[in-house]
Amino acid sequence: MRTKLVVGNWKMHGSRPANAELLAGVLAARPYTTDVAVCVPYVYLTETAATLAGSDIRWGAQDVSSHAQGAYTGEVSAAMLAEFGCRYAIVGHSERRAYHAESDQLVAEKAQAALAKGVTPIVCVGETLAQRDAGETEAVVKRQLSAVIHLLAHCASEIVVAYEPVWAIGTGRTASPEQAQAVHAVLRAQLQAATGHGAAMRILYGGSVKADNAAALFSQPDIDGGLIGGASLKAADFVAICRA
Ligand code: PGA
Repeated sequence: MRTKLVVGNWKMHGSRPANAELLAGVLAARPYTTDVAVCVPYVYLTETAATLAGSDIRWGAQDVSSHAQGAYTGEVSAAMLAEFGCRYAIVGHSERRAYHAESDQLVAEKAQAALAKGVTPIVCVGETLAQRDAGETEAVVKRQLSAVIHLLAHCASEIVVAYEPVWAIGTGRTASPEQAQAVHAVLRAQLQAATGHGAAMRILYGGSVKADNAAALFSQPDIDGGLIGGASLKAADFVAICRA
């Protein structure tokens, strides 16, 4: 049985007072029946860790370097994250693929670097609107995931996957539960064929998840929770999604 997981992706939002208020609201609404985590900007990681210490709310980063250490100005390694007890690192978010030209191969290397230090990568995959309209959705997400599976080999069963159609991110246009489920089923079959553990792996949906559509999405058989952007920035909204 897969425990559902809801992860807030704050992106480049927040401030110390706003974070304190948001995390207080998330903590106050415990207990949750799902696993809950927040992925915050690097500079807020230690403060977030301290605020969440002693609770079962996990925290993570929004990216990680593919390198172990060295002359990579501006990058943060998995070892540095692990030193503070970081549980998750998002890798391959479509915003990083688009604005930082991250390739499937680089995303796979980041996932590998995270896992090597015990940080669970949340590997994002998803098609653009043009790719969906061209009937390429399956091929695109399978290609993105297969790069990771190929590099991680037997460790691939330790990742979390997030299906995030690019056209649904921050647009208010959510994939329908049926559209999302169809892609999740494809991804699970791919994971099962490659690792033998697909049935136990968590596949999250992301893209304009809100309090009023979360329940329908999360009730699909292959949707194991969500990666939440905009709606993770207000405690009441995020809590409602965690409860959905
Ligand atoms: P959104 O973002 O919920 O604001 O659409 C999701 C994500 O990018 O992870």
